[in-house]
Amino acid sequence: MENLDFNNCITRTNCAGFSVYRGKVRDVYTINEQKLAIVASDRISAFDHILKEAIPYKGQILNSLAAYFFEHVKDIVPIHILDIPHPNITIGKKCTPIEIEVVIRGYLTGHAWRTYKSGLRELCGVKLPEGLKENERFTSPILTPATKAKEGHDEDISEVDLLERGIVAPEIWEQVRSYAFKLFERGSKLAEERGLLLVDTKYEFGLYNGEVTLIDEVHTADSSRYFYKDDYEHTFPKGEKPKQLSKEFVREWLMDNGFQGKDGQVLPSMPESFREEVYTRYKSLYETLTGKKFTPVSTKDFDITLENVLKQQTGDNF
Ligand SMILES: Nc1ncnc2c1ncn2[C@@H]1O[C@H](COP(=O)(O)OP(=O)(O)OP(=O)(O)O)[C@@H](O)[C@H]1O
Ligand SMILES: [Mg+2]
Repeated sequence: MENLDFNNCITRTNCAGFSVYRGKVRDVYTINEQKLAIVASDRISAFDHILKEAIPYKGQILNSLAAYFFEHVKDIVPIHILDIPHPNITIGKKCTPIEIEVVIRGYLTGHAWRTYKSGLRELCGVKLPEGLKENERFTSPILTPATKAKEGHDEDISEVDLLERGIVAPEIWEQVRSYAFKLFERGSKLAEERGLLLVDTKYEFGLYNGEVTLIDEVHTADSSRYFYKDDYEHTFPKGEKPKQLSKEFVREWLMDNGFQGKDGQVLPSMPESFREEVYTRYKSLYETLTGKKFTPVSTKDFDITLENVLKQQTGDNF
């Protein structure tokens, strides 16, 4: 077993003199009008809540995984990455985010299944046929957008509604949806090469000098679900639950400990043994998805590292 350093997890980063936006998982620093430093912390979120304890090296696993997939899709769409000066830090183009979570689903799983099971035959304006089973593959992938809520859960929206409400201009949306389907096709192909199926995923786009650009993260375990192909082919016909490669096991642990993210419920504390398991799962997920070995880099005194990176970036002329 590796000697895990639970005391140096990156729970919150600080750097005086730079404006920062803290998301659930990432701290985003503005370097200048053109550039951001997107710092992947070791925080972990589930059911839209940040868990109380952090996971050693989770930030660098996630950031490196995103970097790997960005590299593998940059021929399809302009990407936000400019540089990765440290495994926890991505220097990205400062984009104006398009306030829509662009979700593509290849299978009737998770939220889509729960909606279908409740009797509805339409999801985000997409008609669904009768007689589908949980985790069944759609004839072709579907686009099920959601609005990015500032607080709480994101809400489903149809393409017609998001255009009618003027959330995105029609010509921009045309590009976004076309990129999203192409990206999903590439993500599925990359997954299959590793014996996996890309089940569903979420993309975020932004505008950079008017150009539609892929931002945030892509095809990571935090933004996507995968099945193991062999396992799916055995379990699905028998109506059994296919094994998922995702952070579903964290949600399951929380539910076993009485937490589903509902109001009034108390977040359980993760013991070190479980945090270690989460680390091991994230590490193996990285290795399965990329075929590369993960070697942690120390996160001791991370704020000093961050300050050096930010100062150097400020000096660089982009
Ligand atoms: N290149 C970029 N330009 C502008 N914003 C970006 C870029 N890349 C990522 N972001 C934004 O940075 C934030 C990343 O933080 P994180 O993923 O932790 O947030 P979140 O909790 O998922 O979402 P949010 O804070 O938006 O509710 C997101 O709001 C994302 O939209
Ligand atoms: Mg996010």
